[in-house]
Amino acid sequence: MERVYNFSAGPGVLPLPVLEQARDEMVAYGDSGMSVMEMSHRSKPYMAIITKAEALLRELMNIPDNYAVLLLQGGASLQFSMVPMNLLTDPTQQSVDYVITGSWSEKAHGEAKKQRVEVRVAATTKGVNYSRIPTQAELTLNPEAAYVHITSNNTIFGTEYDYTPETGTVPLVADISSNVLSRPMKIARYGLLYAGAQKNLGPSGVTVVIVRRDLLGRRTDLPQMLDYKIHADNGSMFNTPPTYAIYILGLVLQWTKDQGGVVAMEQRNIRKAGKLYTAIDQSAFYQCPTEKGSRSRMNVPFTLANAELDSVFLAEAKQAGLVTLAGHRSVGGMRASLYNAMPEEGVDALIGFMADFERRHG
Ligand SMILES: Cc1ncc(COP(=O)(O)O)c(C=O)c1O
Repeated sequence: MERVYNFSAGPGVLPLPVLEQARDEMVAYGDSGMSVMEMSHRSKPYMAIITKAEALLRELMNIPDNYAVLLLQGGASLQFSMVPMNLLTDPTQQSVDYVITGSWSEKAHGEAKKQRVEVRVAATTKGVNYSRIPTQAELTLNPEAAYVHITSNNTIFGTEYDYTPETGTVPLVADISSNVLSRPMKIARYGLLYAGAQKNLGPSGVTVVIVRRDLLGRRTDLPQMLDYKIHADNGSMFNTPPTYAIYILGLVLQWTKDQGGVVAMEQRNIRKAGKLYTAIDQSAFYQCPTEKGSRSRMNVPFTLANAELDSVFLAEAKQAGLVTLAGHRSVGGMRASLYNAMPEEGVDALIGFMADFERRHG
């Protein structure tokens, strides 16, 4: 069967060479005579796989040595709880700042509140239906906060920070699930970053946490599986890690490096998203609900002039091999996710289809 152009917000498109290599190595990996799925996580070939994956991530993201890289389970959603659990010393006496820019930051904020800490909203753009990112000047930051939490790219609403918030000595924590590896990030500006893998990193099942080492070990009363320090001290091998997902992560990282790394990815992403936004802005039929300075390069939401045509658009797009374009159920309309592995030809095909659809239905 032909492959389609998959605009899913996540799990999202993976690079074809990665899938082909995984297929070729599925039954017998290297000279091991077994699948990676069947391998002990402490075996020599597997240790080589996980060590290389971490090294590639460190190289691609330019992660300084004083940061630990953890490969965990539980998705980005578990990080909504692990972040406050690990970074606070005495929740009842402390305060944390959350910048709310969409559904995922709302969820992160909600989970932090359960830790019985004072959770301040440093800014929210809910009033404008999350159509933009607040500016630095709009952030009312508490200099005494234990940390400041942001969502660097809002997968559902299609907005993205084009600056790194300045938080002084307060550690900045970022959910980078949907724009990790899409652009360079200055790791040293953050205390902690986390991402579920299923967009730019690989399949679901592995979650990457990058944490400054001095933030580890603040609490000694946590369940072991929820304690960053335990995972850091054990090289992400405290228990059985998600072995196959980490293997695919390694392949995706190698592919990203072969493409020229994060700088090359950014240039390609600027081009890809730029041409889709331009096509939408130049048309009277399509509209983009997000403000220009806040637009995401990864997730491009748009609406049709007549919402009754939505189902026709989706059906015809599918016929043309362009799939998973429906907007999130809480927003409606369309959303095209243009992760790193979406080839430029996929974006061109979508733009061509949209123009044709407008001619026939506009
Ligand atoms: C920005 C962001 N944060 C968190 C999540 C939740 O991730 P997970 O399903 O890995 O828990 C998602 C999922 O799409 C997301 O896009």
